[in-house]
Amino acid sequence: MKKSEKEISISLVQKLVKEYYGIKGNATKLNGELDLNFKISANNSQYYLKVYNHGTDIKFAKFQEKILNKLNKASEKKVYPKQLLNKNGDAISFFYDESDEKRFFRLNSWIEGRLWSEANPITNTLRKKLGRSAGKLTKSLKSLKIIDSNYNTDWDLAKSLWTVNYLKLFNTKKKLKVIQYFQDCFSNDLASYETLRKSFIHNDINDHNIIITKKLVNPDVKGIIDFGDTLKSQTINDLAVTCTYAIMNCTNPLSSAISVVRGYNKSYKLFDNELYHLYNLIGMRLVVSLTKSAINKTKFKENKYLLISEDSAWDLIHKWYNIDGEFAYYSFRQACDLTPHPNQMNFNTWAANQKINIIDLFPSINKNKFLELDLSVNSEWLGLSENFKDLVLFENKINYLQQQNPYKIISGGYLEPRQLYDTENYKRESNYGIEHRTIHLGVDFWVNEGVEISNLFDGVVDTISIDKNEKGYGGLIIIKHKINDFSFYSLFGHLSPKKFNYNEGDFLKKGDLVGFVGNKLENGNWVPHLHFQLLLSKLNYIQDFPGVSYYSEIEIFKSLCPDPNLIFRSKNLKSYENIDLKKIINYRKRHLGKNLSLQYDKPLYISKGDGIYLIDFNGEKYLDTLNNIAHVGHENSNVVKVAQNQIALLNTNTRYLHKNIIELTENLLSFFPKELSVVYFVNSGSEANELAIRMAENFTSRKNILVSEGGYHGSTSKCIELSHYKFSNKGGNGESKNTYTFPLTNEFRGKHRGNNCGLKYVNEIEKIIKKMKSNGELVGALLLEPIISCGGQIELPENFLKNVYKIIKREGGICISDEIQTGLGRVGEKFWGFELHDVVPDIVTIGKSFGNGHPVAAVICKKKIADKFNNGMEFFSSFGGNPVSCATANEVLNEIQLKNLQLNAKKTGDYLIKKITKLSKKYPIIAQIRGKGLFLGFELATKLLEPLPKQTKYLINRMQEFKILLSSDGLDKNVIKIKPPLTFSIENSDYLISCLDTVFSEDYMNLNH
Ligand SMILES: Cc1ncc(COP(=O)(O)O)c(C=O)c1O
Repeated sequence: MKKSEKEISISLVQKLVKEYYGIKGNATKLNGELDLNFKISANNSQYYLKVYNHGTDIKFAKFQEKILNKLNKASEKKVYPKQLLNKNGDAISFFYDESDEKRFFRLNSWIEGRLWSEANPITNTLRKKLGRSAGKLTKSLKSLKIIDSNYNTDWDLAKSLWTVNYLKLFNTKKKLKVIQYFQDCFSNDLASYETLRKSFIHNDINDHNIIITKKLVNPDVKGIIDFGDTLKSQTINDLAVTCTYAIMNCTNPLSSAISVVRGYNKSYKLFDNELYHLYNLIGMRLVVSLTKSAINKTKFKENKYLLISEDSAWDLIHKWYNIDGEFAYYSFRQACDLTPHPNQMNFNTWAANQKINIIDLFPSINKNKFLELDLSVNSEWLGLSENFKDLVLFENKINYLQQQNPYKIISGGYLEPRQLYDTENYKRESNYGIEHRTIHLGVDFWVNEGVEISNLFDGVVDTISIDKNEKGYGGLIIIKHKINDFSFYSLFGHLSPKKFNYNEGDFLKKGDLVGFVGNKLENGNWVPHLHFQLLLSKLNYIQDFPGVSYYSEIEIFKSLCPDPNLIFRSKNLKSYENIDLKKIINYRKRHLGKNLSLQYDKPLYISKGDGIYLIDFNGEKYLDTLNNIAHVGHENSNVVKVAQNQIALLNTNTRYLHKNIIELTENLLSFFPKELSVVYFVNSGSEANELAIRMAENFTSRKNILVSEGGYHGSTSKCIELSHYKFSNKGGNGESKNTYTFPLTNEFRGKHRGNNCGLKYVNEIEKIIKKMKSNGELVGALLLEPIISCGGQIELPENFLKNVYKIIKREGGICISDEIQTGLGRVGEKFWGFELHDVVPDIVTIGKSFGNGHPVAAVICKKKIADKFNNGMEFFSSFGGNPVSCATANEVLNEIQLKNLQLNAKKTGDYLIKKITKLSKKYPIIAQIRGKGLFLGFELATKLLEPLPKQTKYLINRMQEFKILLSSDGLDKNVIKIKPPLTFSIENSDYLISCLDTVFSEDYMNLNH
């Protein structure tokens, strides 16, 4: 065994602490590179003992002593370890070990908290806080004046080229390539790097040296420890080291690094020349770390701590290598409130003096005005996304627009968030799930195929390429223009590739022919247009440059790709103006009822629906697991078209004859048992329930209604009286005179539990009826959902509903099944929820999903009830049964059948139950899973069944960050509900489950914390 690895016994450590510091405590060994570290736990305090490695120079120990003293003077908060003095008044003590060698040691105060390496999740907010703390540390160390210090220079990035001598330790081409890449970049930029400012730096702010608070949600950085690697070097190295460890194990390490840089710059202002080197320094820290690991692997085989982050480091260095260093530099500048591209202002000043006319671009088109075309997610002109993808339709629309505006060039799109790009190369994995490219970086000019395009500025042809990908550029030309002390590029996309009469490297004068607008077969399969974009840099792209960016990178691309209208300077070619959320929120607060609630701590502005997704105003796509109203998919194109067509034709009331109401009624009744044969159309679920109750009262001449605990049936006065979920909660008036509430039939945590509790709940109903009767009252109706949604997706137990229906019938009452949430195939196994229990209600109410978002609802009842209701008073609902609503609802029914959505609900629902059950084995916080089809719920609770509403809320808000919409409910607000559009697929389910898995693994969801 090597001397440096020799252990010291715990008993010796305890003895030393007692003898030198008078502290009686228990010692436990901690990880360390070469020194030996121990945690000492005494009565009320804890300490940290460091025994220096063999042969450590006292000067080195003294150096650290000075640093800690300095830092503790500079900081009032207890963020750095304090040194305890021994019985002789010294911070450094020593003893002779078994080999009779002198060993130095010291005792520090213990910083209470958790190690960064133990925390999950590491969020960008935490990274920013780390950056701030690291910046503060740099500031405090800046004025440290020590000449005599003993450095471990292997870790000094300024000297990191020593690693070049160890390349032979890397045995694969892939590994060698990345290691050499960073070494070469570092060596090439060494001269400029050496001019950077220097100071003392910590030099090892890694995940084992950062203490964060014990708070499991949004923790703070408490302190930074272990100054064993402190040395004087380029100041920026400290940030590079900090970033390296703070960005390990992420999908997109650049986006994580930006947060650290942003925080650091808040405490300690960074210079542009430092930011320029940062990307490569992070790479070099990884090179040093991996080279050290490779050496240590051969030297100290037993010390696992030395190899601790090797896998993560390899993963990171490969990802880092794939990030464009120049792009990283611009991103870091942006994080430090600088213009991302250093030439942005220069370009703007230059552009302000240019006078470019649209005729300069299209010399053969004699038009000099633009007509702005909105193709953003908010575009009403575009409507359904498929209107864009259907090339014939889109071309016709464009042609029509052009005919109406013959003297203008249809154009626009700079910074527009568009939901039009759906091929694979428009998406990637981000730190928070899938991310889509949506932000359009150029201007589109919708001119005809074959239109001639001229060069706008003298320049050299940089790129001629033919992008043959579906939805690619087709023919692409990029021209480089040199202006005094900087250059920029103009990019022309979707050209005809056949007609370039020049080569790369040729000089083109202003006015020279660039090419011709391509047709669909040659331009990437688009309706003919020119995509024109300006670039201040081509980054590392060779034959290409993105024309659409991720929203998360909009600020950088905005700077990199200036607004083309800077050169055209037209009022009608404005860049996209974004929506001001604060303004909307404030207006809502002032002029809309304050009890109109908003989902999420950070409310979403949704602009568009598309199948299983809701899309916000920036084009960010959210997987929707909660909107059961969009039953056949958001903005289902068949439903939309039918509604649009009918509203263009006629929308009036039921006092005229019309085929739509007949067709819908026929279609709807075909899904019901024949006893349910008469339909009334209304506009909302509340209205349907209100009418159902009126009919029941009319039929029975009784007012007493039985409802379930946790039930919700609508927002009208009567419905609120019948909704325990409302009347028993905040603002509610309690149970009213004619409402009789029976206990929620919750087999899991209800009044009666277990598989055989159905009859016990039946008995509860018997008791209520008996009591009612003893007061001279009779039951009028039972109003109940087949799965109680607001109560927390509570299924009705076996033997319950059938027996209850019998009792109600026996007592002369009416059974109403509220299928407003459960109906229309949602429960999978059956089309209606009541069918799960083999009963036939007297009245059924439907709504919500019936119109897929269009307000249409219905009451379906037995003939005898309808006949009695026909008592002389006309039934009229202004909008109920109108031709538009009927056509819409009819199409919803057709879609359910056409797309086999009931079956999909069954298959996907079963799959989800299986997957969530599997998750529950891994995460015991998932206490129960229930529901049917795509009407599911799972409950979060402790082992003792204590509900966990805070964790439920945490899960929902975290899932929002992964762009998944979830909702919660239940008496204890601890049930996650899953009730997506019925088009929800197995693939969607897998994605949902993988994100749930990620969040459930986080500290706050761990029951043992
Ligand atoms: C079971 C149930 N019934 C009735 C209603 C009321 O429907 P609406 O909001 O359309 O009035 C709702 C609404 O959430 C519901 O969930």
